[in-house]
Amino acid sequence: MADTDGVTESKQFHENVPQEHDGFFLKGSNSYDWGLKNRLARIFNPASGNTVMLAFDHGYFQGPTTGLERVDLNINPLIPYADTLMLTRGILRSVIPPESNKSIVLRASGGPSILKELSDEGIAVDIEESVRLNVCAMAVQVFIGGEHEKQSILNMTKLVDLGTKYGIPVLAVTAVGKEMVRDAKYFRLATRICAELGAHYIKTYFVEDGFDTVTSCCPVPIVIAGGKKLPELDALRMASNAIAQGANGVDMGRNIFQSSAPTAMIQAVRKVVHEGASPEEAHEFYEKEAERA
Ligand code: 5RP
Repeated sequence: MADTDGVTESKQFHENVPQEHDGFFLKGSNSYDWGLKNRLARIFNPASGNTVMLAFDHGYFQGPTTGLERVDLNINPLIPYADTLMLTRGILRSVIPPESNKSIVLRASGGPSILKELSDEGIAVDIEESVRLNVCAMAVQVFIGGEHEKQSILNMTKLVDLGTKYGIPVLAVTAVGKEMVRDAKYFRLATRICAELGAHYIKTYFVEDGFDTVTSCCPVPIVIAGGKKLPELDALRMASNAIAQGANGVDMGRNIFQSSAPTAMIQAVRKVVHEGASPEEAHEFYEKEAERA
């Protein structure tokens, strides 16, 4: 019988030993085909190895989220500062200028609204649509421990099969139900399952305690979600700690578009993610830029 609970505290995560990834700059990605690598290299900056993804797909289950009431006005001015845009095909077609030339991570799962059971998702985009829209990855929610856990995992594996066929990576988004504990143990379980079943990279949440064990035992890159709006310095500290503990970037939404100075905030996040600025240095930059704007 396999070790099913994963709780053994004697496990060795070797947090201080980076995984070797000769041949391609991204962890665990050297054996992929050219198109898949090329798309990943448009999401992650090959110079820093990291990415600033701007996430504004929240409307796919919760409608006009605060700060996203008018994506044309709220988000379009931020586009030049993002490496990648994570969004739905509806917003992509209706609002985002094709000339913006940014890599796109397309929300590819959906179904229930906030009024229903959120884990009851299906695949909501054809692979041909992803090709047509020239996307660099497809994002799918995975609800480990959720009511429809298996269905969400099979959504992901189906997309991995299709994505691999067409050279389009899959981003598994670990969605945490209200009843689940957000700790390193849970995120090790969730991220590792997604990686084992083929996700090309994984979005998860930062945890204060043991985040380096989450990144070290996940064989593919991890990016962190921003989560609920925090004071700007705290959000920058979270990004900085995540990078220091092995994350390859952020997929941040509310902490950018709900900031009182979103353009200054996304630039400050870039400083942490790409330039290794300390949270305090980045925050000083944020305050100056916010004042100037
Ligand atoms: C929705 C998502 C969001 O893209 C994600 O939560 C990132 O946004 P935020 O930084 O606001 O948490 O995956 O399910």
